[in-house]
Amino acid sequence: MQPCWTLSHGSFLAYPVCEQKDMLRIRVLHGPNLNLLGTREQSIYGTLSLDALDSAITNLAEELAVEVDLRQSNSEGELITWIQEARTGYDGIIINPAAYTHTSIAIRDAIAAAGLPTVEVHLSNIHQREEFRRRSYIAEVSIGQISGLGPIGYLLALRGLYDHLTVSQRQKKMTAPGASRRAAKGTR
Ligand code: DQA
Repeated sequence: MQPCWTLSHGSFLAYPVCEQKDMLRIRVLHGPNLNLLGTREQSIYGTLSLDALDSAITNLAEELAVEVDLRQSNSEGELITWIQEARTGYDGIIINPAAYTHTSIAIRDAIAAAGLPTVEVHLSNIHQREEFRRRSYIAEVSIGQISGLGPIGYLLALRGLYDHLTVSQRQKKMTAPGASRRAAKGTR
């Protein structure tokens, strides 16, 4: 089996994770106007298209052996439906809510209701731009926010969420009833 290592959150310890891990499923959501990436305000958002960005995310997901489901919508309601649906069958969410970041209590509430670890991503640095972009309703229901690193931000979000979920899975397995008995016997 190919060796597979991760960094545990905050401790810089590496350990093998592949053999015992169930396949993680992550939903990646792009909000309004992100379908125009590559042509839209290139000086702010760059020249990479949404398709090219999605391919880069898919390639990394394959490398990590994670299943990703990528979607874009210009509609707040559709994004909310997809967040709600993710409660069944998904382990985490990566979302760039675009302009809804700064306005949508409804998306914030959907993420809180879904209860899945969520990472907020922005291509541009929202804290360096207009005053109205500095407020994120999503930040307080996210495990973290990546802002200003361009498309690489999505890849860092995927790696970060993968690490977070892998550590949680291991902790759950270790605290599950019978886990200490199995560990003593050396069985899974
Ligand atoms: C954005 C930042 C938002 O303020 C803006 O409305 C977007 C994109 C980003 O990725 O930098 O549409 O989320």
